[in-house]
Amino acid sequence: MIKNINNSPSLIMGIESSCDETAVAIVSSEKEILANIILTQLEEHKPYGGVVPEIAARSHIDHLNGLVREALGKAKVELDDLSAIAVTSGPGLIGGVMVGLMTAKAIAFSKNLPLISVNHLEGHALSIRLTEEIEFPYLLLLVSGGHCQLLVVKGVGDYERLGTTIDDAAGEAFDKTAKILGLDYPGGPAVEKAALKGDSSRFKFPRPLKGKPGSNFSFSGLKTAVVRAKEKLLAEQDGTLTRADICDLAASFQMALTDAIIDRVKNGIDYYLEHYPLNDHMLVVAGGVAANSKIKEKLSGLCEGRGLKLKAPPLELCTDNGAMIAWVGVEKFEEEQFSELDVSAVARWPLDPDAPPAIGAGVKA
Ligand code: KG4
Ligand code: ZN
Repeated sequence: MIKNINNSPSLIMGIESSCDETAVAIVSSEKEILANIILTQLEEHKPYGGVVPEIAARSHIDHLNGLVREALGKAKVELDDLSAIAVTSGPGLIGGVMVGLMTAKAIAFSKNLPLISVNHLEGHALSIRLTEEIEFPYLLLLVSGGHCQLLVVKGVGDYERLGTTIDDAAGEAFDKTAKILGLDYPGGPAVEKAALKGDSSRFKFPRPLKGKPGSNFSFSGLKTAVVRAKEKLLAEQDGTLTRADICDLAASFQMALTDAIIDRVKNGIDYYLEHYPLNDHMLVVAGGVAANSKIKEKLSGLCEGRGLKLKAPPLELCTDNGAMIAWVGVEKFEEEQFSELDVSAVARWPLDPDAPPAIGAGVKA
C-alpha cells in the first residue's frame, strides 16, 4: 500500500478534460473510489454528429470548478486532505486539455500539492489495475472514439506498441457509419442496436489489412464501402432505404469491423506469446468500443483458443473518466513521478515513443 509521510493511504484527485467528458475523481491508494463524477457533453455535440473542439473547451470551463467541488463533497474530504493532483495533459483536443491542466496547476500551486501529469492513454491502459490484481506485462487493446491501438503494457510509463490505426479509430468508424445510416450519436451503441435486428451476411464489406502481417488497423475503406452500398440501394429503390436495409448495413459493417480487429489482435497475440513468456497471459480491452458485445464475444473466443484470459474494466471505467487518471496518479505517486508547474498540454503523446509513426494516424498514434 502507498503511504503518505504521516503513514495514511494516499488520496489522489484525477481531472480529465481531453475530449467530451468533464470528469473529476478522488481515488485512494487502497483502490477505493471515493468520488467519480462524469459530466458528458453528448447533447451539446449531438447536432454536429461528432465532437466540436471549441464547444468542448468552453463546456469544460463552465463545469470543471463545480465538478471539483462536487467530487470533494461526495468524497467528504477537503483539498487539504489530498496527497496530489493528477491531470490529463495530453493527448487530446488541446483546448480542453488546457482547461483541465490549468485548473490542476492552480489547485496544486495554491495548496502546495504535487502535480502529476498523466497521459490519457495511460489512464485507459492502467485502469484495469484499479479494479483487479493484474501484473505487468499484459496485452492491451485500446479501442475508443479517438484511439485504436494494441500495446504490451510492461509497466508504468513503459509500453511496446504493436499496432495503431493508420486512419480512423474504431469508435470513429462506428460514429461515421451511424451518421451515414442516419442513426443516433454516439454511433457505437446505435449501430450495435440496429445490428441486432440485421443480417450481417447481406453486404460483403472489406476487412481492411486482414491477412497482412503486423497489428496496425484501418477502417476508412470500410466506411467508404458502407457509403457505396447505401448509394447503390438508394439508386435501386427510388431513393428510399427501409429499416431492414439500415439494420443489415449496420450488422454487415459491425461484422466486418469485428473480423478486422480480431485478425489484427491475433497477430499481436502471437507476438506477445513469443516475446513475453509468462505463466498467465492476459488481454485487456479498454475504451468506449469495449462496450460492444459482438467485439467482446469474438475476442473472448480468440483468447480461449490461445490460452489467454480476457479482462475489461467495468463499463464506467472503460469510457473516459477521472478515476482512471487518479489511478495513474496513485501509481506515479508511489514512484514519485511528479511534474513541474510549467508542464505543457500536448495534443500528441504516444505511449511508446520508439514505435514508428503510422502514416495518417495523427493524434491517434
Ligand atoms: O472511450 P470513449 O468514451 O471516448 C474516447 O476516448 O473516445 O469512447 C467513445 C467511443 C465512441 O466512438 C462510441 O461510438 C464508442 O466509443 N462506443 C461504442 C459502443 N459504445 C460506445 N462502439 C461500439 N459499440 C458500442 N456499444
Ligand atoms: Zn479515452
